[in-house]
Amino acid sequence: MLINLRDACAIAEQTNIALAAVNTPSLEAMRAAVEAAEETGYPIIISHAEGHESLMPLAVAGSLGVALAEHSSALVCLHLDHCEHLSYARRALEYGFTGVMFDGSSLPYERNVELSQAAAEMCSSFDAGLECELGSMGSRECGATSQGGTAEDAGAVYTDPDQAQAFVAATGLDILACSFGTVHGLYRGEPHLSFDVLEQIRERVKVPLVMHGGSGVSDDDYRRAINAGIRKINYYTYGVKYAGEAVRAMIDDRVAANPNDVIYWHDMTSVAYVTLRDTFAQVMRVFASNADSAA
Ligand code: 13P
Repeated sequence: MLINLRDACAIAEQTNIALAAVNTPSLEAMRAAVEAAEETGYPIIISHAEGHESLMPLAVAGSLGVALAEHSSALVCLHLDHCEHLSYARRALEYGFTGVMFDGSSLPYERNVELSQAAAEMCSSFDAGLECELGSMGSRECGATSQGGTAEDAGAVYTDPDQAQAFVAATGLDILACSFGTVHGLYRGEPHLSFDVLEQIRERVKVPLVMHGGSGVSDDDYRRAINAGIRKINYYTYGVKYAGEAVRAMIDDRVAANPNDVIYWHDMTSVAYVTLRDTFAQVMRVFASNADSAA
């Protein structure tokens, strides 16, 4: 069933877990995400990034996401990820999205506040939840392999805890994306998360917090971040990397066995689907593994 971003994150808050917010710019990815939620029993956030419009148009993501959610026994939030244009967000809400991330992180602070306030009004008229970002990851979401590295390489600006407090109060957002050492894309070297920054934000801000650049982080760091208030973890790059590797291995094996073997498109999508579903289910279990330590 389709649920609102606010309600999804409230469940995570009550149980001291984080929800996986997986980018799903293909039919296989969207189906895999919903099936992983059914298999694990945890709610899922299926995310469509504005930057993925060329991979899957918004109208398709909206119709497909709503249909899959409504036919599922799992709790599914259909979320717009990294949206920089209010007109695009409005269209998403009209298609039935139940959450929006308005990303004004590259704008001057005052302009980010102004547009985030407008996004909050728009979301509330559709009863959808709003996520906004303060600070900067230093690289944009689109899964390109040229991105990533480390937060330092990417030119990340960590979220300022005092400014975060003022930003939440001024905008009326529901959940806050913060920058504290993760980056979008592939990591080159170990990510170094600043838990000090995260804990300071948590002391000042009571809304659920969001980790972007969440794939490629160690299980220990996930658990530490969740204990420090992270309730939504955005996960894309490593999932599609594993799916690509699985497709390549399948083709290599079949060609080694028979150089004339015909590889059909559905052979590739089936392997990708299974890999994505299993990867999503596995990370969802890790993101829920602090549940027993809930107060
Ligand atoms: P990754 O590139 O680490 O998977 O992050 C995805 C993300 O943050 C989407 O908003």
